[in-house]
Amino acid sequence: MKQNKELVFAQEAARKAGRLILSQAGNRRILAFKSKIDFVTNVDKNSEKLITSMIRHRFPGHGIMAEEGTNTENKENMWIIDPLDGTTNFTHGYPFFCVSIALVRNGVQSLGVVYDPIRKEMFHAVAGHGAYLNGKRIHASKAKELKDSLLTTGFYYERGEIMRKTLEKMGDFLTRNVHGVRRDGSAALDMCYVACGRIDGYWEYVLSPWDFAAASLIAMEAGAKVTSPSGAPLEMVRMGVLAANPGLHKKMLDVIR
Ligand code: IPD
Ligand code: CA
Ligand code: CA
Repeated sequence: MKQNKELVFAQEAARKAGRLILSQAGNRRILAFKSKIDFVTNVDKNSEKLITSMIRHRFPGHGIMAEEGTNTENKENMWIIDPLDGTTNFTHGYPFFCVSIALVRNGVQSLGVVYDPIRKEMFHAVAGHGAYLNGKRIHASKAKELKDSLLTTGFYYERGEIMRKTLEKMGDFLTRNVHGVRRDGSAALDMCYVACGRIDGYWEYVLSPWDFAAASLIAMEAGAKVTSPSGAPLEMVRMGVLAANPGLHKKMLDVIR
């Protein structure tokens, strides 16, 4: 495949941001609470600053939507960024977090990069060209039955209706004898784990575009079906996600919708 300059760039930015996150882990501090349980650290902000300044330098006309406040519109070329997905884990020293960078062109996902700096795992996909982990092609699992599957989910920063529904559905899956239901705390890595078959299916009822813009493309390019939790097509707006291989997707949909 011809060198894709945006892909090479996104991988370099994600690696640099990953290095910055690890190097500042010892000096992390909570700067502000977005809600009682949702906070932002100096490291989220610094990672966003690094990535957005790299984009502005290299692709000055492009738009950027990033979690910690950067928002410049450009329909043709829009970078959607989560500078640190898994902030709660990071803040507690729980080693499961990543950097997520996607490029959306005219509303269509064009490429996605998700980098786990702890494991040095680089997931990437370019639309129509498959999904990769550290340069090797990856595929979603083939598990067709709930009873053969390991699932994962997430809780949005809400402790009411959405949380209760998630807990109820976790129970429904467990009584259908799935092997387990995990909650690892990074939506982007959860979807990448579906992409490489470590997890068979993932759902979460509310996410933001930066949580899934890169990883949903990676999962789709790995052969997973990715929709909203009611089966609707994904859009780059606040919404939930269901990702699994097509056979299992249907079975999960019947439980969670
Ligand atoms: C969160 C994580 C978490 C998911 C939340 C996300 P953040 O992102 O991906 O796993 O359950 O819905 O908001 O705040 O750590 O970037
Ligand atoms: Ca996130
Ligand atoms: Ca984040």
